[in-house]
Amino acid sequence: MVINMKKFAELIYSPESATGEVLSKVESHTPKIIAPDKVKANEEFKIKISVGPHPNTVEHSIRKIEIYVAEKTRKFNPILVASIDLIPIYSEPELEIKLKLKETSTIYAIAYCNLHGLWENRKEIIVED
Ligand SMILES: [Fe+2]
Repeated sequence: MVINMKKFAELIYSPESATGEVLSKVESHTPKIIAPDKVKANEEFKIKISVGPHPNTVEHSIRKIEIYVAEKTRKFNPILVASIDLIPIYSEPELEIKLKLKETSTIYAIAYCNLHGLWENRKEIIVED
């Protein structure tokens, strides 16, 4: 058995888990989630994810953003609802999509920086009938 082999989840940084040198990267790498606190079931609403300010060069940039939904009563979470690859220099790490939710859910946004790894943020959205 490989003793140092971490679970993948332990490789994802978040503001709560950041310590030491990682703390200086929290502000520039944690995805910002702009979404309503409450929505109606099965009604479209907009969600915006952005990262930064962050460098956007060939050597250092945000390369990918993914959005997952974890439904409150679903047995197997999460659901991948959006995934976007970003090209350095040309593409800025900001996207807006429309979602529909069936039930109260937690939205997870994951950003990947080629130098500083994976960064997570999350927001609960209450779904009212
Ligand atoms: Fe970075």
